[in-house]
Amino acid sequence: MKTIINSSIEDAVKWLNINQVVAIPTETVYGLAGNALEEDAVLQIFKVKARPHFNPLIVHVNDWAKVAAYTKHIPEAALKLAETFCPGPLTFLLSKNERISDLVTAGHDKVAIRIPAHPLTLQLLRQLDFPLAAPSANRFGYVSPTTAGHVMEGLSGLIPYILDGGPCKVGLESTIVDFEGEDVIIRRNGGVSIEKIEALLGKKILKKTDDIEHPVAPGMLKSHYATTTPLYRGKLEDLIQRFPGKSVVLLEFGKPISGNYSNRLNLSASGDLEEAARKLFSLMREADACGADCILCPYLPNTGLGIAINDRLQRAQFIEV
Ligand code: TXA
Ligand code: MG
Repeated sequence: MKTIINSSIEDAVKWLNINQVVAIPTETVYGLAGNALEEDAVLQIFKVKARPHFNPLIVHVNDWAKVAAYTKHIPEAALKLAETFCPGPLTFLLSKNERISDLVTAGHDKVAIRIPAHPLTLQLLRQLDFPLAAPSANRFGYVSPTTAGHVMEGLSGLIPYILDGGPCKVGLESTIVDFEGEDVIIRRNGGVSIEKIEALLGKKILKKTDDIEHPVAPGMLKSHYATTTPLYRGKLEDLIQRFPGKSVVLLEFGKPISGNYSNRLNLSASGDLEEAARKLFSLMREADACGADCILCPYLPNTGLGIAINDRLQRAQFIEV
């Protein structure tokens, strides 16, 4: 199959209407999208991605009326969050109704649903009479794509079409929020920081992020977002001592360390976490392409978007067995 990159919405509509899967831009990362209401299209998503069926998919819609059309009940706190953060990098776990199949939610009673903030994809969703199920458009386990070119690198020949909407503006996947009684629970850290959610709701929220990327057994999906080149985290000066004679790529943040290193990339020389989020997956791919023995990366400040960035880097980390 020949994969075409273009920014025509009509072409994307054409493929999606015949149950093919296409890559779509969002503000977070590119998604691998198919008709969420058609089993054939959903199965195709799992197949192209080589993703296990127990890992559920996020459903994308263009407005809140459609969220209501696929769910049973919307808690007050969700409505409040939606007013401020939708469209945007926030995904809601809400009780699904019978229109959403168990295949999409992997048997869960709740569906993950969001309104992406990308003009092309919002326009695309308006033209379709079904929502789009879409995981990130990478092969399972590899770094998420933030440009159409990244999608091509991983999925060329496997899908007919990539809708090119330029580089993703946020660069990290959406934050996933869940609702239990009066509680609001963060299931995945992402593009909307915990601080912003707490400030809006005026209360502390719970963080239970462990079970979501490891839905069946912790450790089964031990590495995710992973580069092929082993990635290590720590104080850069100490890490360098650990690998004498090896070729390294430095993936720095803030003021560069002194020394003469040929492979060095910087997430944000000025120490800006939003810039680091935007560049993270791109620079991880660039670091991977250097052909070095290892990638060395510091811990970023654990506040704001730094929490989600550290989470992705921790999952990308090489695990010694
Ligand atoms: O920003 C994003 O969220 C991107 C763009 C494309 O929208 N999508 C994305 O999808 O990151 P994916 O499939 O790579 O990650 C979805 C996460 C997984 O960890 C999955 O386990 C969780 O959402 N998830 C999806 N549906 C769920 C459900 N019904 N219950 C619990 N977790 C769910
Ligand atoms: Mg993913």
